[in-house]
Amino acid sequence: MARANFGSKLGIILASAGSAVGLGNIWRFPCEVGANGGAAFIVVYLVFLFGLGVPLMVSEYMVGRAARANCSTAFHRLAPGTPWWLVGIMGVVSSLIISYYTVVAGWTVEYAVATATGELAGADHAAYFATFTSSPWRPVAYAVGFALVTHLIIVRGVQSGIERFSKVMMPLLLGIIAVLVVCSISMPGSQAGLRFLLMPDFGKITPSVVVSAMAQAFFSLSIGMGAQCTYASYFRSDSNLFRTAASVGALDTCIALMSGFIIFPALFSIGNVAPDAGPGLVFITLPGVFEAAFASVPWLGWIFALLFYLLLVLAALTSTIAMHENATAYIHERFRLSRRSAAWFVTGFWMVWGSVCALSFGLLADAKVAGMAAFDLSDFLVAKLIMPVGAMLFAIFVGWRMERAVVAAELNAGSGGISPRLVRAYVFFLRYVAPVAIAAIFINELL
Ligand code: TRP
Repeated sequence: MARANFGSKLGIILASAGSAVGLGNIWRFPCEVGANGGAAFIVVYLVFLFGLGVPLMVSEYMVGRAARANCSTAFHRLAPGTPWWLVGIMGVVSSLIISYYTVVAGWTVEYAVATATGELAGADHAAYFATFTSSPWRPVAYAVGFALVTHLIIVRGVQSGIERFSKVMMPLLLGIIAVLVVCSISMPGSQAGLRFLLMPDFGKITPSVVVSAMAQAFFSLSIGMGAQCTYASYFRSDSNLFRTAASVGALDTCIALMSGFIIFPALFSIGNVAPDAGPGLVFITLPGVFEAAFASVPWLGWIFALLFYLLLVLAALTSTIAMHENATAYIHERFRLSRRSAAWFVTGFWMVWGSVCALSFGLLADAKVAGMAAFDLSDFLVAKLIMPVGAMLFAIFVGWRMERAVVAAELNAGSGGISPRLVRAYVFFLRYVAPVAIAAIFINELL
């Protein structure tokens, strides 16, 4: 059977970008910026994103496209009889643990609904957030619902489901975010927020800030867990991997930065929330942005808020699709289950673990492992551990193990010819620079 493919170059970029752009940009990025001191974190983040993230994304793409298989089978094909396939298994496992993401995705649905019904207008936003997230059933229902909707799209397949969806979504999201940036910056007292974002205080950079910045860069690009590898297995053979990765990185960064420029000017303008408020930051601040920015025309604020939350829901969905696909493709291809049954296995796991994570803001708040409740523990395992380690292993694999001719051919595809020196430089980067950098950052944090 011929393997599915993304239809066009734009479709490829948008699907990969749809995977990258999500709650990581609009929810996790501001949350990390706030917790890690602002501008200096952003500088370190940008260095990691373009200096490490984008080139490592290319190496992950290479494995998928060269092997045309899911992220574990790909290693079986490229390096038969070696334990490299375990890197893919780690990715599949993280695609299951990452179901905590459906919890936050569920929050975005709640906020879209509460905006639509007018329930959110004029409420005490901090109290609203706390009451909602600690409720024993609503966040659970939303997380489970999100897993089910993802499931429906996954079983429709690659091109009709994933690609068509991403093409419409991304431009719309970019447009509305741009409007919100303008609104936020024009709020009274927003300058303090701009200063927080633009004036780096490099004294704030500690080993843990560096690890967080690296983790956020990898998280945001969706690299290190095989998801980009799986997507690349659907890429056309003539698409240029470096150009694709660079476009995805640029788009992803734009949206993350713009999100920062929505949240912080407004946050400092409103003034009663601290930048390090944690996972609730965005959800507590944003409703205030809409109310303040459109105080004189509330119906316009209502429309913008609704549109924004709906787009956030969709951005989260293009990411959950990619996560789900990563695990589904593996189970489907490895165990010869139908796509539908494979998808049900993933969805089932997501519903259970997603519910546990949803309850970790209420009922299960005190059920802790290593000092973390289920939600924080999942984020720690996936974002801080598995993704950086996975990204490092993809680099080592492509640098040391993949045939040089294959690496060169993959780099060359769609490029009109890359000089052998550039290929050598890239391999050198994968062999030494990237692994040493990532390992050093980990060791530095441990000490
Ligand atoms: N990059 C996604 C975001 O910013 C989150 C993410 C992490 C992801 N790992 C992934 C998405 C794997 C798809 C696949 O929201």
